[in-house]
Amino acid sequence: MNVKQAQMVLTGREADLIKSSWKLMEQRRIENPLFFYETFFEVAPEARKYFSHKDFSKLGKKFDFTMDFIVSNCHQLDEIRESIEDLGRIHIKLDIESKFYSKFNDSLLQLVNRILGTSHSKEIETAWSKALDHISVVMQNAPDKKQNKFQQLLKKLFG
Ligand code: HEM
Repeated sequence: MNVKQAQMVLTGREADLIKSSWKLMEQRRIENPLFFYETFFEVAPEARKYFSHKDFSKLGKKFDFTMDFIVSNCHQLDEIRESIEDLGRIHIKLDIESKFYSKFNDSLLQLVNRILGTSHSKEIETAWSKALDHISVVMQNAPDKKQNKFQQLLKKLFG
């Protein structure tokens, strides 16, 4: 099967593990809304070159909204494929090197690890890894399209 057409099916248990672990991460996110980007720049300091501004508060809100959207639909990722492709098109325009997608996923996994501590298990990590790998592939292979509904929604909500 062509990777572009690959279907994504997380098991019910994997989807539940992602949702419950994200809930725990959300509590920490309230204390420091930028904790995700801080971790990403620790893992990949070179990625800073892609970010033109210093104020991450708006981007932080957009990122959180997007992750909430993805996580709440992780049991049906194929249903939100178009939105993930829209997200991909935003990033394709930024000309991001492929290696940064895996670094991005590594930093998310590191956060899961750090935040869940002892309640973290290999099973949770595998579920996240499977979902994130799929999302990166769909984002990077998004076909060209003029209209970007997901970006319009982000703009409407956060400016
Ligand atoms: C699961 C993967 C990812 C998600 C969910 C995500 C999410 C987002 C969202 C929601 C935005 C805001 C888009 C907008 O303002 O219209 C954004 C922008 C951006 N993302 Fe990502 N992203 C991901 C992967 C990456 C990776 C791998 C990089 C690598 C450097 C990256 C770098 C950027 C940059 C530079 C911007 C633009 C920031 C700005 O100047 O406003 N993202 N991302």
